[in-house]
Amino acid sequence: MSIVIPQVPLQTLDLPLCNTFGVQFSILHLDHTHPQISGNKWFKLQPALAEARCHPGRPILSFGGAFSNHIHALAYAGQQFGIATIGVIRGEATSASNPTLQDAQRWGMRLVFVSRQEYARRYDPAYISQLQQRLGDFQWVPEGGSSAAAVSACGDIWAALPVRTQPFDYLACAAGTGATAAGLIAARPASVKVLVMPALKISAVEAEAMLQAHWAAAGLAKPEGYQVLPGDLPYARLSPQLAALWWQLSACYGVDLDPVYTLRVFHQLMRMILQRQFAPGSHVALLHTGGMQGLRGCDTRLRRLAPAFYGPLPL
Ligand SMILES: Cc1ncc(COP(=O)(O)O)c(C=O)c1O
Repeated sequence: MSIVIPQVPLQTLDLPLCNTFGVQFSILHLDHTHPQISGNKWFKLQPALAEARCHPGRPILSFGGAFSNHIHALAYAGQQFGIATIGVIRGEATSASNPTLQDAQRWGMRLVFVSRQEYARRYDPAYISQLQQRLGDFQWVPEGGSSAAAVSACGDIWAALPVRTQPFDYLACAAGTGATAAGLIAARPASVKVLVMPALKISAVEAEAMLQAHWAAAGLAKPEGYQVLPGDLPYARLSPQLAALWWQLSACYGVDLDPVYTLRVFHQLMRMILQRQFAPGSHVALLHTGGMQGLRGCDTRLRRLAPAFYGPLPL
């Protein structure tokens, strides 16, 4: 099962702030690899799709929120490769009409809506067996596709990056479950330091623990060459400053980031540049992990919040 992953384009931005501090800033467009399975999704789904091929007719079941990028990509992959898919969705059935879940249903995914309390049991083996009794046999794929095998598969992202032809010193990556970052760090070329930026409100110690758990599950030794930052906003929360930054980037620089993951990474990196955390001459690259389909769930909030910000933006 394959789609061709082209070499990831690197877009260098001419930002006055970066120029002032002598830092080269680029975006690695992993989001451009495929219209539906963009960013980290193709890599994270590889092991699940390979296993499904060994069990024809058995559906893949996975978990996600109403705007989940993972659910969206899984539904599309299922349709493309003839694999039935079931999405267990946190929340009310009314969200079935949102664009993400409409796409998923159009691609043949069966949706099962569960309460927040039930969703909280998504890693509990007893709950997975109950679901199996209710829905029939399935291949379980954890939320976000973040299995131990997916961690190793995310190491393959490096092969698509122009590490040799357009070298960079830092690769900044968003973390939800941390599987993508854990895989990237484990397979990191010695010349690149990985910066991990959580998309949820957690301390650096908690984020580090998430990475450690992934390495342990994947049977990998604790690697080196990375830095974990704390996450300062709850998951998917938008502030007026972030919303205004999103608009400024889109309108002035033609750069579209997803507000849940990569926008936060961008914001954090600008703060680090202002704090002189990068030596002059450094090349910092932000990995655009995709998720642009989720923008359809934030559009109204972006419009509403952006004008509420008054103050200088760090660009
Ligand atoms: C667009 C995007 N970027 C980054 C991430 C973070 O990935 P992970 O859960 O592997 O940390 C996700 C979640 O899968 C995502 O959808």
